[in-house]
Amino acid sequence: MENYKSVLKRLEKTAKQYTNIAPENGQFLSILIRSIQAQNVLEVGTSNGYSTIWIAAALKETGGRLITLEFDPRRAEEAQTHLQEVGLDSIVEVRVGNALDEIPKCNATFDLVFLDAEKNEYRRYLELVLPNIRPGGLIVADDTVTMRDEMPDYIEFVFDTPLLHSVDIPLDDGIILSYKTEE
Ligand SMILES: C[S@@+](CC[C@H](N)C(=O)[O-])C[C@H]1O[C@@H](n2cnc3c(N)ncnc32)[C@H](O)[C@@H]1O
Repeated sequence: MENYKSVLKRLEKTAKQYTNIAPENGQFLSILIRSIQAQNVLEVGTSNGYSTIWIAAALKETGGRLITLEFDPRRAEEAQTHLQEVGLDSIVEVRVGNALDEIPKCNATFDLVFLDAEKNEYRRYLELVLPNIRPGGLIVADDTVTMRDEMPDYIEFVFDTPLLHSVDIPLDDGIILSYKTEE
């Protein structure tokens, strides 16, 4: 992580403007990715690439790769610039487009999926990607305390589907961590 810290610190100054995750949530994602030795990760909601750097830095250690989805071309370009700056661009594919269109085009089998785009679309993102998450794979959803009212269908799905084991984690704006069981 050491190499990326100065860029992360700089981006933290504009975190509100770009609605970036908190550093502790970045650390949480990083620990998960390294713990499960993730090889393929999907991020939904890139913004300027702050969380993307946390994820990609962890994947650099595991030898994995990241696809990240962003529908705002300017933000996607900023993310690309930041990834180049920290030398992580070769393991990250920034795809510009609506996640609802882009997720079905992803062929990879994902070890971990990070949801951080439109809160009222979380359930649709998850339902689209679920067949491509391996048994034992993880789903991390952000803002699940502060924006819970916007995702009632997601909350119901992750806590009521036997295929998923989920837990609320009150880290910064809140995270729900879900584990996909064997089918
Ligand atoms: C909360 S920000 C992501 C922050 C980022 N994960 C971070 O922590 O650095 C959400 C981003 O998702 C993007 N977004 C919203 N709906 C989307 C969609 N349907 N498809 C792709 N991107 C979307 C927005 O343009 C915005 O940049």
